[in-house]
Amino acid sequence: MTQDELKQKVAEAALNEVLPSLRADTILGIGTGSTANKFIDLLAPHARDFKGAVASSDASAERLKEHGIEVFDLNEVGEMEFYIDGADEANKQLELIKGGGAALTREKIVAECCKTFICIVDDTKVVEHLGAFPLPVEVIPMARSFVAREIVKLGGEPVWREGTVTDNGNHIIDVHGWKVEDAKALETQMNDWPGVVTNGLFALRPADLLLIGSQDGVKSLSVINTASDQGNYY
Ligand code: 5RP
Repeated sequence: MTQDELKQKVAEAALNEVLPSLRADTILGIGTGSTANKFIDLLAPHARDFKGAVASSDASAERLKEHGIEVFDLNEVGEMEFYIDGADEANKQLELIKGGGAALTREKIVAECCKTFICIVDDTKVVEHLGAFPLPVEVIPMARSFVAREIVKLGGEPVWREGTVTDNGNHIIDVHGWKVEDAKALETQMNDWPGVVTNGLFALRPADLLLIGSQDGVKSLSVINTASDQGNYY
């Protein structure tokens, strides 16, 4: 199977997770990226079975609307049951790097507003240590050089994603060369720098269920079974 086919399989597994819970008043939190897009497309035939969605990017909002799924402003809704999104890297503790698509801030906000974060990845993204994928950091434009200098002090190599402006009007710095040992501590430290809007570590609020597409099927890792590393295969 190609990586694209693995993404399709894992999106199907996520749909199977949420379908039994869909009710007329259900609002889903929906992520951004090619894997999330596959999930959005799979939702289309079920558009009438639930109330709608909150999207983590303008692109996902557009795609949802094209499928006839109503998109709500996060301020109009309360806590949601499910957030479904991809990731750029995931470890066995269900900590993630996200933001390859520059939507990390809204992704982190929507994930925080959902009880269960179902993260959908193919197995090329599962790593022992986060950091081989350059860590995205969304910054207020005037703080870009300051934040870059702070990153260098911690041994990282900041690269401005030139030309990219986030849905919030900000810039992205990608940090190369970090092998992340303590994701929660690094996430907290970076959040303290003035001008950082969000960093792409999702460790303080990791996924609750990680669905991993592999050649052997879709494996699941959850907060309950990570200690023993006993995932199920669909
Ligand atoms: C967007 C993200 C995406 O979830 C991440 O980049 C994975 O994308 P894809 O599913 O296309 O591989 O964090 O900001």
